[in-house]
Amino acid sequence: MRTIGTTLRALSGAALLSLMACGGGDTAPSYTPPAPETPVATANEAATPHVALFTEADLKLGDIDPAMKEKGKTTYDVKCQACHSTGENRIVGPGWKGLTTKRKPEWIMNMIVHTDAMLETDAEAQKMLEECLVRMPNQNLSHDEAREVLEFMRTL
Ligand code: HEC
Repeated sequence: MRTIGTTLRALSGAALLSLMACGGGDTAPSYTPPAPETPVATANEAATPHVALFTEADLKLGDIDPAMKEKGKTTYDVKCQACHSTGENRIVGPGWKGLTTKRKPEWIMNMIVHTDAMLETDAEAQKMLEECLVRMPNQNLSHDEAREVLEFMRTL
């Protein structure tokens, strides 16, 4: 305890010195709390399912774009392959073979980009969750990356 008292006295001595050094003015060193961490978008999604979901009008699908497809395949290899096969078999989540014939493209885009909102609000997504028993984690893809994965899916 004595040590703390001594330290405090030493500190106030230092403060007094610095006041004098600054001409008795304004600046005792002030504590600035660290800025709060910027919330990650996905953390808020579950609480606010009012995200701007993709609509049919957002997606004008033409012929397969080979460059986009290749990029989508790379993203798949890195971020999706652990849980999704390109066949019919389920790994953790459903296989992707023929997926784009079963689901609307905007639904797929929403599942990829707005995963939490879909799992909170969409009946089909919720049904899958009940079957798979694992909640798909949002993989934080940009809209472009998601669109590339969709292009890859269209070739399966
Ligand atoms: C940790 C495992 C995991 C990873 C990684 C993962 N998913 Fe999923 N995904 C799931 C599960 C599980 C489901 C079924 C829904 C649920 O249970 O949440 C699912 C469902 C889906 C569906 C709907 C499938 C259908 O049959 O309608 C799409 C589309 C999808 N994921 C896309 C992706 C994409 C794209 C990636 C990579 C960027 C990805 N997922 C990465 C686990 C995963």
